[in-house]
Amino acid sequence: MAAPGTDLNRYVVAVTGASGMIYARKLLAYFAGRPDLELHAVISGAGEQVLALELGLKPRDLAPGAVWHRVEDFTAPLASGSFRARAMVVVPCTMGTLGAIAQGVGRNLIHRAAEVFLKEKRPLILVVRETPLSLIHLKNLTRAAAAGATIFPACPGFYHHPQNLEELARQFAGRILDHLGLEHQLCARWGEG
Ligand SMILES: Cc1cc2nc3c(=O)[nH]c(=O)nc-3n(C[C@H](O)[C@H](O)[C@H](O)COP(=O)(O)O)c2cc1C
Repeated sequence: MAAPGTDLNRYVVAVTGASGMIYARKLLAYFAGRPDLELHAVISGAGEQVLALELGLKPRDLAPGAVWHRVEDFTAPLASGSFRARAMVVVPCTMGTLGAIAQGVGRNLIHRAAEVFLKEKRPLILVVRETPLSLIHLKNLTRAAAAGATIFPACPGFYHHPQNLEELARQFAGRILDHLGLEHQLCARWGEG
């Protein structure tokens, strides 16, 4: 873990209660293997429930070395624009959290931190997951995108012929890391064998 204050190596990952916890697990495992990066993590109450349902895990199993913040704690550093970090990823991101971010309704630390990233013009990636999408969802997606968020739907590709969920998750988490500009060996690259 990097020393506190090395904000250029600092990232925020938030987990909310959508399906797709395998992506959160893979992304957080990457950070666990990068002690040079400082990871701040937060999970919603629904996120904890879906994590237990889908993977039988508790939050700290995902990233034991991360600085975990309570989702109701508005005194956490993430709630302030003076806390600098390279990027924030919400993975997976529910329609509820998307709606709160798109409408600027900061009811928990995840919403507030995302609001801060947008106002400070810092990268915010929303790995949204729902199907089908209502008009409200679609409008919230465009509102969030217009405000600067990157909409990163939890839609894995199949052209790499993943043999199992592990490979699928690796490929997808690798695409998120590409977007963050972080080096990784999680997946093969199209056209590079
Ligand atoms: C097993 C399970 C799967 C869910 N999957 C989704 C999903 O894929 N997308 C979504 O928007 N909500 C999903 N939900 C509903 C959210 O968890 C619920 O709307 C919750 O209030 C979201 O709160 P949060 O955004 O604070 O995590 C799911 C709930 C459960 C129990």
